[in-house]
Amino acid sequence: MLDIKIVKTTAPKQKPAADQPLGFGKIFTDHMFIMNYTEGKGWHDARIVPFQNISLSPATMVYHYGQEMFEGLKAYKAEDGRTLLFRPEMNAKRSNNTNRRLCIPEIPVEDYVQAIKAIVKVDEDWIPTAPGTSLYIRPFIIATDEFLGVKPSSTYLFMIILSPSGAYYSSGLSPVGIWIEDEYVRAVKGGIGEAKTGGNYVASMAAQVKAHEEGYAQVLWLDGVERKYIEEVGAMNIFFKIDGVVITPALNGSILPGVTRDSVIKLCKSWGLPVEERRISIDEIYEAHKTGKLEEVWGTGTAAVISPVGKLRWKDEVMVIQDGGIGSLSQKLYDNITGIQLGKIEDIHNWVTEVK
Ligand code: COI
Repeated sequence: MLDIKIVKTTAPKQKPAADQPLGFGKIFTDHMFIMNYTEGKGWHDARIVPFQNISLSPATMVYHYGQEMFEGLKAYKAEDGRTLLFRPEMNAKRSNNTNRRLCIPEIPVEDYVQAIKAIVKVDEDWIPTAPGTSLYIRPFIIATDEFLGVKPSSTYLFMIILSPSGAYYSSGLSPVGIWIEDEYVRAVKGGIGEAKTGGNYVASMAAQVKAHEEGYAQVLWLDGVERKYIEEVGAMNIFFKIDGVVITPALNGSILPGVTRDSVIKLCKSWGLPVEERRISIDEIYEAHKTGKLEEVWGTGTAAVISPVGKLRWKDEVMVIQDGGIGSLSQKLYDNITGIQLGKIEDIHNWVTEVK
């Protein structure tokens, strides 16, 4: 249990108007959570302070070797006024898995969730309520030793910032076009692909720029060895519905284990749909499309929730899915997940936690 000191701002910022388009991750609330780690002392000095810049030496390790991790989750305002979180303990556990891979000290799951609840409580008036909006929560840890040698830092900062946000893609729930990348790779087994760390995202940028130039929203990665098997999309996991079967790549060590991915698998199974987590090749997708069996494709992510894919570009082929529209399963998943998150649909899986 953390002893969290709270210092409230004396100069609250103007909150966005109810009908203001928020975009994603552009606006920040009045406060932030910070906690220090010092070797020999552990995590200490948990506090909530006014949102502010932090001052670090240019020699700070995170600037040089990227020893950092981040998470993403959301808070929602239910119609009855409750503030709800969706499966925050999964983010806390995944954070510790990432930390182990990156030699960052772990944070007890209860402390992690306590910190998230505490900062969300302080800024709960910032949770937007327009359809499709929520308060995006970004916990992250950076290495703070002033040192230019390559080794794990002995000091860290854990911070949580909050951003009232709308849809991740400017197109909202409208289907996105995805570019299947065959030049660059994102990650390989044994690397850091399953860790939630900036390095995986910077590795994706050159391909993303290329995809954007071609008019595609995101990149779909193939495995780094054979360049044949589907891995994930830049900010999402990926699902296919082929001939009535829901298929998603198995977690193989180079794919991010998404919270929304896990929730979609559980929901589909609870609706009696066959779900397969397995290796799936781009040739299989191409073949399924050619024979009319590729019924739906969608991405899953905390930021993106459910993002229907309207077209896939593979070399010179463009596969149009559902005539570029939203498939009925994608829509049902979106409605159910957001319904549970907003407290409108019965939470039979026990996924929602109230912030009191
Ligand atoms: C999320 O979905 O929360 C993520 O962390 C993806 C991020 C790159 C926006």
